[in-house]
Amino acid sequence: MCSDPDVMQYIGNGVTRTAEDAARYIESFEKEWSEKGFGLFAIEVKKTGDFIGFTGLSSPNFLPEVFPSIEIGWRYSKPSWGKGYASEAAITALSFGVDELGITDIVSIYQIGNEASMRIMQKLGMIFDRRTIDPTCNREVGVYRLPQQ
Ligand SMILES: CC(C)(COP(=O)(O)OP(=O)(O)OC[C@H]1O[C@@H](n2cnc3c(N)ncnc32)[C@H](O)[C@@H]1OP(=O)(O)O)[C@@H](O)C(=O)NCCC(=O)NCCS
Repeated sequence: MCSDPDVMQYIGNGVTRTAEDAARYIESFEKEWSEKGFGLFAIEVKKTGDFIGFTGLSSPNFLPEVFPSIEIGWRYSKPSWGKGYASEAAITALSFGVDELGITDIVSIYQIGNEASMRIMQKLGMIFDRRTIDPTCNREVGVYRLPQQ
C-alpha cells in the first residue's frame, strides 16, 4: 500500500515506503497498542478478508503543537477508494475511542489538498481548528478537532 505514490502523496513528504519500512511501522503500531491500549486497526473487507488499509488512534508525534490530543487517521490502498470504507471504519474507530476508552481529546490532521480526508473529518462531526505547518516536512496542514460535550 505504502509503495504507491498516489497513496503517499499527502503523507509526510510524499515519499513511498519499502517492505522493510512497512515492517518497522507495523511493529511500532503493535507497540502503541500494547503500551497505550489504543492504536491503528488493520481494515479488511468482511466478505473477502482482503486487507485494504488502516484506521485508528495514535499519538501525532509529527505535530507536537497539538499534544496531548490523540489523532484519528487512515490510509487505504487505491483499489478500495471511493467505496465508503474509509468513512465507515473512521466512524467505528472514533466511537471505539470515545465510548470504549473515554478518549475525547481527538484531532485529525490532513495536508492541504487532501479533500477526501478533510471530508471524512467533517463527516465525523469534527470542526476546523487551525492551519499550521508540519515541521517534519514543511507542508501546510489543516487540523480538525472533535467538539467537547
Ligand atoms: C483519504 C482516503 C482514506 C479517502 O478514501 P475514500 O475511499 O475516498 O473514502 P470514502 O469513500 O469513505 O469517502 C470519503 C468522502 O470524501 C469524498 N471524496 C472522495 N474523494 C474526494 C475528492 N477528491 N474531493 C472531495 N471529496 C472527495 C467522498 O465523496 C466521501 O464523502 P461523501 O460520503 O460525503 O460523498 C483515501 O483517499 C486514502 O487512503 N488516501 C491515501 C492516504 C491518505 O491520504 N490518508 C489520509 C492522510 S490525512
